Amino acid sequence: MKINGKKYRTIWYENNVVKIIDQTKLPHQFIIKDLKTIKDAVKAIKTMEVRGAPLIGVTAAYGIVLAIQENKNLDFIKKSSEELVNSRPTAINLQWAIHRMNNKLSFVKSDKLLDVALKEAKLICDEDVKFCENIGFNGLKIIQEIFNKDNKTVNILTHCNAGWLATIDWGTATSPIYQAHRKGIPIHVWVDETRPRNQGANLTSFELNEEGIPNTIITDNTGGILMQRGQVDMCIVGTDRTLSTGDVCNKIGTYLKALAAHDNNVPFYVALPSSTIDWETKDYNKIPIEERNSEELSHIEGKDDKNNIKKVLIYPENSKSMNLAFDITPAKYVTGLITEKGICQASTVGINQMFNR
Ligand code: MRU
Repeated sequence: MKINGKKYRTIWYENNVVKIIDQTKLPHQFIIKDLKTIKDAVKAIKTMEVRGAPLIGVTAAYGIVLAIQENKNLDFIKKSSEELVNSRPTAINLQWAIHRMNNKLSFVKSDKLLDVALKEAKLICDEDVKFCENIGFNGLKIIQEIFNKDNKTVNILTHCNAGWLATIDWGTATSPIYQAHRKGIPIHVWVDETRPRNQGANLTSFELNEEGIPNTIITDNTGGILMQRGQVDMCIVGTDRTLSTGDVCNKIGTYLKALAAHDNNVPFYVALPSSTIDWETKDYNKIPIEERNSEELSHIEGKDDKNNIKKVLIYPENSKSMNLAFDITPAKYVTGLITEKGICQASTVGINQMFNR
């Protein structure tokens, strides 16, 4: 997708270095950062310089490439894999990518390790782009149907950033929106701010602006009244882990949006590539929910009138706060899953049929 009219992916490999767009600096600064070591890759995932389930999966795959560049010793690669898997617990794409890389590397001779790892990381990257593009084509059908019915601007609500910044290109939740926009369907996006890190305001609105798609940032609590007033035609969100039962784990606050959508008969779709499906876990209470530093709540960063980026405390100094990063939306509140293969019911039957399991 584009920034200042120039096409970018969110991650790429060049001259033995992994290049990323530092997402902690957006929207005020656009900085391309070099990851040179496995430590850099782990830190980038932990501090959310890269974020979003598909992108952290790909960063982990490239992390293995960086580990091999540093040291081809198998124990070192194993330790690096563990560090990468543990860098963030909720998105299943991390485990999925590391598992796939290690499978590919088993029985490979030392002098070929780097070539094989690099090829596989690039393949994961290209596959994600294709999958996200297909999610766009599949989701477009739903938007087209809504437009055909009323012949007026389609209002879509999204939460967090499941945009191209969260993937390699296109995004998941945003991909149908980009396709619809390209087809000339008038779209307007309600962008949930997504406290505490404001991925909606800082990232989704930023990338929609770059693509010229009308959007309005709202606080996380505004969606309910907009749905009651008939100002939301559909919701589309992403996911960090969807169980084969159809239960969806996504950014904190997604569940409350799904409840409001259910109460107001607003269709609630979840867009995901198959790399985000957890085929093992059956009970959503067993999904590890990341708890991040409470400083993400108590402090906020912004630009002052002299263009300096500043972080300030916004809470009483001695107040306690709690920062759960994800929640669960039970399958019964999900209208459908938009995948690279098509749209299916959020249920064991629907998912198994779609993926021939
Ligand atoms: O904590 P983040 O910013 O990594 O959370 C991201 C999300 O919740 C996204 O909705 C999810 O990863 C899907 S990305 C296509």
